[in-house]
Amino acid sequence: MTIQWFPGHMTKARRQIQEKLKLIDAVIELIDARLPLSSRNPMIDEILQGKPRLVIMNKADLADPEVTRQWQAYFKNEGLTAFPVDASTGTGVKDIPNQIKLLLKEKIDKQIAKGMNPRAMRVLIVGIPNVGKSTLINRLAGRNIAETGDRPGVTKGQQWIKVAGGEMELLDTPGILWPKFEDQNVGYRLAVTGAIKEEILNVEDIAFFAIKYFANYYWETMSERFDLKERPTDLDNPDEIVAVMEAIGRKRGCIVSGGRVDLEKASSLFLRELRAGKLGRYSMESPY
Ligand code: G4P
Repeated sequence: MTIQWFPGHMTKARRQIQEKLKLIDAVIELIDARLPLSSRNPMIDEILQGKPRLVIMNKADLADPEVTRQWQAYFKNEGLTAFPVDASTGTGVKDIPNQIKLLLKEKIDKQIAKGMNPRAMRVLIVGIPNVGKSTLINRLAGRNIAETGDRPGVTKGQQWIKVAGGEMELLDTPGILWPKFEDQNVGYRLAVTGAIKEEILNVEDIAFFAIKYFANYYWETMSERFDLKERPTDLDNPDEIVAVMEAIGRKRGCIVSGGRVDLEKASSLFLRELRAGKLGRYSMESPY
């Protein structure tokens, strides 16, 4: 489901997360490994008010592993622990409680030094819609409890979910954040991956953006799949990108009367294949 975010929604979402911060020891900031910046909330540092944070790059199974490694180094440089996860199969998920423990080590050591029994670490997951919050909660909990889908502003009874033999407790309702709408490229990157619905942006514009990006970074994969002969020489020339779109359309038989290529159909088809993983693993932005 795509949420229409208005300033009122943002204020409410922010307030709800900040209310929850009082209850928890650490935050898991969930982002999409294919677009780690575009899938982040622009005000995240301000919203989290210095709460210890683990950055999880989800959907790493779909991202370019080399670029994901670069992002991990980028976040380390920013003073944040980040690591890739595939919440849909569970790869990397079992490390999360240990990483949270490391993050809270000082606090836990202090409790032990005072002779206290450290209580369960309380954690909240936050992220933009579709990033995989519910999938991760279910995966960590080892059962099917979190509802998938998003309803900002809807308050449900909150529950703590025990994880890692009770060492960690997770709030069952994640914090839903908004992406950075002001930057049109962010919108396109999110739309390419399917994080926001196509109705918001024009499908041909989204495909144009993706094809231009692939022509630059993943030409081999794209040309192999669609049997493309001519690589654009000037990526800033829209005609050259449209020529690639047409070649893709012709290859897939998206032809209208008069032999012209149906660009809308070609665009939808290209995006469908991309999202279905037919063009292999890719990242839509890199840190360097
Ligand atoms: P949200 O709560 O943050 O809104 O996201 P949610 O868990 O609903 O996940 C959004 C979509 O992303 C789901 O697919 C989910 O299966 C998929 N997903 C989550 N984590 C991963 C991952 O690590 N790798 C991959 N490949 N996909 C992931 P969907 O098509 O909306 O639903 P469905 O096909 O699972 O029914």
